[in-house]
Order: sequence, then structure tokens, then C-alpha cells
Amino acid sequence: MRIATTAAEVRAWHRSEPGELGLVPTMGALHAGHLSLVARARRENPRIAASIFVNPTQFGPKEDFARYPRNIEADRAALAHAGCDLLFVPPVEQVYPPGFETAVEVGSVATPLEGERRPGHFRGVATVVLKLLNVVQPQRAYFGQKDAQQLAVIRRMALDLDLPVTIVACPTVREPDGLALSSRNAYLDADERRAAPVLFRALSSARERWLSGELDAGALRDVMRGVLDGEPRVRTDYVSVADPATLQELSRLEGPALLSLAAYLGATRLIDNVLLEP
Ligand code: PAJ
Repeated sequence: MRIATTAAEVRAWHRSEPGELGLVPTMGALHAGHLSLVARARRENPRIAASIFVNPTQFGPKEDFARYPRNIEADRAALAHAGCDLLFVPPVEQVYPPGFETAVEVGSVATPLEGERRPGHFRGVATVVLKLLNVVQPQRAYFGQKDAQQLAVIRRMALDLDLPVTIVACPTVREPDGLALSSRNAYLDADERRAAPVLFRALSSARERWLSGELDAGALRDVMRGVLDGEPRVRTDYVSVADPATLQELSRLEGPALLSLAAYLGATRLIDNVLLEP
């Protein structure tokens, strides 16, 4: 596995090894969720690249940028083992050189839910993803359904800006008890970890209700809120039943719907979602 830290090194690698390429962008601290994206990319492309960059512009001033888990040696070994051909690990000055001032203006899909709680987050995500796509120039890029609004923002950007890349969505990888794998799960103490599967239980209960015929979005929100309220360690931030592409809240489920929620366990904020496809 080649390691590149500059755009010029990536381009030199590209010239020496032509052929279709799949890219998995990450912030590192890799877990089985990330590696499922790498495995999918490996199956669908003759060559694959991953990037590790903890992107400062997508963290708010009070968020966990400084203490975000970093584990580059273990990540490098895991990616090499997974058959990755190129690892792009740029330093911050490489991505944001002095004088940097251009960004992607994200639209209404980035406004509600995570966008409302994390001002500037999706602008930072879209801008860095566009830069990574421009540097690595993959035919396909792989993203997790775990971050459903991020996926919707990136799909919108790819469509609106005619990006010559196929955005591939990959299913959420979970612990046996249902908790979605996340680098931030490392922040949970033992009691919080025991309580955390309630997020997926809330989503699953609403899904069950939908499967038994409930089409009223308000009723499904109530189901999720009720399950979360049953766990005293959890403080609910939001529950949502929205259009998966636009993230606009629904009143009735007439097509696909995204059930999503965010909740605090202590100081740790977790998100999860389930896609309902009739
Ligand atoms: P990060 O949180 O490291 O996630 C990298 C990719 O892994 C994202 O597409 C995310 O949705 C996916 N992922 C995370 N947990 C997953 C799980 N349990 N199952 C399946 N996929 C999972 O998301 C980011 O980084 C950044 O915002 C990034 C896109 C790299 C831009 O900085």
C-alpha cells in the first residue's frame, strides 16, 4: 500500500497505476463500519484508495476536534490488510493552505437535523469531500448510510456540480446489540454503553409499527420518543421521519422514509437511522 501526503504524490501514483479507482474517505480511528466500505470498494474496483483526514472545518468550536480519536498506525495496518492500494493522509496545511477561502455552499438538504445542531458542519464536509474527490479522482466513492444526511448532502452536491463520480451508499454496521459502530462510541462509559442500544431499539420499534401499517409520521415519531424516554441515561435531541433525499419532514409515508434520531448519553452525542423502503 502506497502512502501519499500531498496531491502531487497522489497524481504521480495515478500515472504509474492507471485503471478505475474506488475511494473511501474517512477520519480514521477505523472500525468494522469503515472496513465494510473498504471491502465493498475492493469488490467493485480494480484499485482502491482510502483517505484519513480529521477535517477541522466540519467540527464546531465546542465539538471534539482536539480529542477525536487518532490511531494512524492501527489504521494503516487495517487498510493494508483490507487490500487498499493507496492511503492518502494529508496534513492540515496541505488541505487548507494559507489564504484558503473557497467552500461549497450546501442547500436546504443540509439545513435541518444535524445541520441545525451543527452550523457549518455540512459546508465543511462537502468542501473537504469535493477536494478529496478532486485530488484522488475516483470513479466511485463509498459512504455509510450511518450518516444519512451526510450521504444526502454529498449526493446532492455530486448531482448539482456534475461530479464525474458514482456515490455508493453502504449499509450501517452494528454491534450484536444493535448499536451502530462509531468512533465516538469510545467516549461512552460502561453504563452509557449498556444504555446505548436504545437508539436502535427506538428505530426498530418505529419500523415495526410501520410494517404493521402505520403511515402517520407523527405516530412513528411518538414511538421513537417513547422508547428513548424509557431509558433514563438518554437525553433525546431529535427524532425525525423525513424524505431520505431532501430531509424534509413527512406527515404521511407515501414513499421511502428515513427514520433518524440523535441523543445524548452523558456528554456523548450519538446518531442513528433506519431507511424505510416500501
Ligand atoms: P467518518 O466518521 O470517519 O466516516 C467515514 C465513513 O464511514 C462515512 O461514510 C461514514 O458514514 C461511514 N461509517 C461510519 N460508521 C459506519 C457504520 N457503523 N457502518 C457503515 N458505515 C459507517 O464521515 C466522515 O468520516 C467524514 O464526514 C468524511 C466523509 C470523511 C469527511 O470528512
